Amino acid sequence: MNNQVIVINDTEWKTHSLEDKGLHDLEAGKVLHFNRLEFPLSAFEQSFFTPDIRHPKSRNISLDASGNLKGVVGNDAVQDGVTAMMDRFRNQAQSLVQSYFPSYIDNISVAPTSFRPNQIETRAQSWRADDKRLHVDAFPSRPNYGERILRVFINVNPHNIPRVWRVGEPFEDIVKRFLPDIKPYSAWQARILNVFGITKSLRSEYDHIMLQLHDAMKHDLNYQANSPQVTIPFPSGSVWMCFSDQASHAAMSGQYMMEQTFHLPALKQKDPQASPLAILTRHMGRQLI
Ligand code: SIN
Ligand code: FE
Repeated sequence: MNNQVIVINDTEWKTHSLEDKGLHDLEAGKVLHFNRLEFPLSAFEQSFFTPDIRHPKSRNISLDASGNLKGVVGNDAVQDGVTAMMDRFRNQAQSLVQSYFPSYIDNISVAPTSFRPNQIETRAQSWRADDKRLHVDAFPSRPNYGERILRVFINVNPHNIPRVWRVGEPFEDIVKRFLPDIKPYSAWQARILNVFGITKSLRSEYDHIMLQLHDAMKHDLNYQANSPQVTIPFPSGSVWMCFSDQASHAAMSGQYMMEQTFHLPALKQKDPQASPLAILTRHMGRQLI
C-alpha cells in the first residue's frame, strides 16, 4: 500500500515536465507529495493563522475566479492580505500543474481557492460530512458528469504541525468492494432533486454512483478501520496533489491549509480509460452520463 503516495523532491513550482511517470501516477489515483517546494509567508500573513479569521457564518474561506474573497473577518488590510496570499498560492498551484502536466493546459479550468483555518480533530460532524473517514470526493448538489477534480493542497501551519492524511486502496478496489451493494439509480428521483433545486443540474447515474460510493465508504466503520491504507503526515510547508474523485483520502489532524481545485474533462486526461467514469462504465456495462 505504500505506493499510493509518491514523493517528489523537486524544489521548483515551475520546472520540467514529470511526464510520463508523474502523469501516470496521478491518473492512477496516487497522491503526489512535493516535500521541498517553498511558499514563504510574510509576518503579516502569519497573523492570518488564527481560527478567528473565518467568519462564523461561513463554512470556508474562499477566493473565487474573479478574485472575490468570502468568509474573512477583518479590516480592508486583512481582506487584501488574505486575498494576496490565496492568489499567490493559486498562481503557484497553477504553474505547478501547467509545468508538470503540460498536456492538461488547454483543458483545465480553475475553481475557487480555499483557506481552511479550522483544526480537524476538534470538528464535530455527521458521518456523511466527516472527512476524517476515508472517501472519494463527490458532492450531492453538484453533479459533474465525470469531470475530474484535481486538487493541490499546501500545509501552511506556522507551528510545524503536520496535516495527517490516510490514503486508502485504489479506486478499482473500492468499486469492486462497494458497487454490488449500492442503491440503483432512479431517473425520476434525479428529476425531482433537480426540479426542487437540491441539485444544480440533473444528477446523472455516474454522479449517483459516486455519491453512493462516498457514503458507503464513510458509513462502514469496519472498512474505515481495516481496509488497506497508509497514514501520511504532510509536514508543514509541504504540497500535495491528487485527483480527489479517485484517490481515497481522509484528513485526520492538522490546521491551516490552502487548497486549489482544478477541473478537467475525463476525455482530456492522458489516459481517459483510467478515469472513474471509464472504470465505472466498464463495471456497469452501460453509459452512465
Ligand atoms: C478532504 O478533501 O476530504 C479534506 C482535505 C483536508 O482537509 O486536508
Ligand atoms: Fe475529500
